[in-house]
Amino acid sequence: MKNKVTKAIFPVAGMGTRFLPATKSVPKEIMTLVDRPLVQYAIDEARAAGIEDFIFVTARGKSALEDYFDHAPQLEQELERSGKTELLEAIRATTMDSGTIAYIRQQKAMGLGHAVWCARRLIGDEPFAVMLPDDVIAAETPCLKQMVDAHAETGGNMVAAMEVAPEQTKSYGILDVSAQDGAVVKVRGMIEKPEPAEAPSTLAVIGRYILTPATMRQLGQIAPGKGGELQLTDAIAAEIAETGDVHGFRFRGTRFDCGSKAGFLQATVAFGLARADLGPEFSTYLHELIAARAAAE
Ligand code: G1P
Repeated sequence: MKNKVTKAIFPVAGMGTRFLPATKSVPKEIMTLVDRPLVQYAIDEARAAGIEDFIFVTARGKSALEDYFDHAPQLEQELERSGKTELLEAIRATTMDSGTIAYIRQQKAMGLGHAVWCARRLIGDEPFAVMLPDDVIAAETPCLKQMVDAHAETGGNMVAAMEVAPEQTKSYGILDVSAQDGAVVKVRGMIEKPEPAEAPSTLAVIGRYILTPATMRQLGQIAPGKGGELQLTDAIAAEIAETGDVHGFRFRGTRFDCGSKAGFLQATVAFGLARADLGPEFSTYLHELIAARAAAE
């Protein structure tokens, strides 16, 4: 079996109900963080980690996503004619080479585990990454690259992990770990969205995974779990029981939950402030706004 991770699955079939009415016509993944759609951040992170094949698990109503990755010859011609080279470069950087991107339809919303399983025929007998574009991670070394490097040492399955507040365990897959030290932790168990009283720890899974073909096979066997859905967490938990070959990886970086409105706003502010072209003016504006609000109170 090949050990290098060159394929990534992007589950993007979700309806994005938390962002209605915007998501009535725009897929959530196309929503804009400063000036790039969410999905572009995930793609750039994947590329930086050496991913060569990009597999999108989509659903009805997601055609804007496919168009986004297409060539835009008219737009390119126009930008070239008017000498807007920087924009031309930005547009060209979004185009994917022919054959590197594949779309699979998830016909029924049966959960994240099922979405990943839909891509099984494109994966074959090699390890693969899963990236959830809702989780945007700002990091000096992109998160998936950190994981691919750590995975070269450990092999097996690896999930990104981060501490959360005890009352938040019910929003995440939660890890049961034997030793808490270091970036790489051995995982003994994994539970999808436990209530705080049932949570084995406060170490939560964030949407970056490196998984084995055996875990993909587990996805074809698991029963519906939390919320009546086929859960990726349950397939990984089954692999722990069978092989014990699952590691948590505490990444270095800041994660934004762009699946929630508050998280999306926080990411917008943080990424806006971090931009050389926008940051200084935006920072002045925010300071003035906050001072004016404080004065009015
Ligand atoms: C999914 C997973 C969950 C994980 C989370 C990370 O949940 O099921 O285990 O912790 O992503 O963002 P979702 O947020 O899609 O409900």
